[in-house]
Amino acid sequence: MFNPEYLPEVLLHRDKQLDSIAVNLRPAIKGGAPMHTVCVGPPATGKTSCVRIILNKLQDFDVKSVYIRCPIYRTEYNIVSRIYEVSCGRLAPQKGVPIPSMLSEISNSLEDPIVVVLDDINFLDIATADSLLYNFCKIHEEFAIKLGLICISTEVKFVGTLEMAGAVFHPDEIYFPLYDENEIRDILQWRVERGFYPGAMSNDAFDRIVELTAKHGDLRFGLYILKMAGISAERRASRKVEVEDVENVYKGGLKVFVAKSISALNSDERIRTKERF
Ligand SMILES: Nc1ncnc2c1ncn2[C@@H]1O[C@H](COP(=O)(O)OP(=O)(O)OP(=O)(O)O)[C@@H](O)[C@H]1O
Ligand SMILES: [Mg+2]
Repeated sequence: MFNPEYLPEVLLHRDKQLDSIAVNLRPAIKGGAPMHTVCVGPPATGKTSCVRIILNKLQDFDVKSVYIRCPIYRTEYNIVSRIYEVSCGRLAPQKGVPIPSMLSEISNSLEDPIVVVLDDINFLDIATADSLLYNFCKIHEEFAIKLGLICISTEVKFVGTLEMAGAVFHPDEIYFPLYDENEIRDILQWRVERGFYPGAMSNDAFDRIVELTAKHGDLRFGLYILKMAGISAERRASRKVEVEDVENVYKGGLKVFVAKSISALNSDERIRTKERF
């Protein structure tokens, strides 16, 4: 419930973004090519979660999907290999096979449209992203593959920095703003209601968590404090999370949390995050 990988079944305050993604994928449900989409916004604004929810819903239709975390895959070859595996149902050939040969095999195997999610695409170096997006934009006319991209990025300038792909890649951009204090309150309340026993979180402690989360502008930080404050109360053998638990976690955990999240960011974001904390 409080782990970063947990996918809540309800994403509060993201109806607009969820609808926009769904509309862009609608052509695929009718057998056509989905529209390219870019989801952009600061960390912990629900980009990955929204897209994962939509991908789960796509399973009911004849649409293939592949989710790729760019920091792990890194190169065009690795990314195309992953798409090959999902499309062809077998391991990709060893390095050395040219990418166009892999694409024509994908085209032969694939009857359905395919949605390719490139999460954290800002981790790719710009030349790789440029070439990849250019080739994927041409994939329909050259290989008859009905492929729609969903690129997820924390870098707002991302599309503007493309050179070769800039001329052909015209995605629908969906913006994910930071949650304001009221939205943070709703989202954390939803988790408290499901993750804690009734009455196990004092109102003061909850208010303080909301305040700290809004101050740092990072919902992930709020989820982290919720979880750790619960553990702190347990350690005191208390049935209720009090403000002192929140303060203890905040004092002790902020540095750990920030160090952990900073190590997961790219260099631009690291500088910005350090400025914030
Ligand atoms: N609207 C929401 N309702 C409930 N939980 C949310 C919501 N938005 C985000 N979360 C939770 O916050 C955490 C961060 O969300 P997510 O990973 O989707 O953000 P992100 O925008 O992809 O962040 P990053 O850019 O750092 O990858 C997750 O644990 C997710 O469950
Ligand atoms: Mg994400």
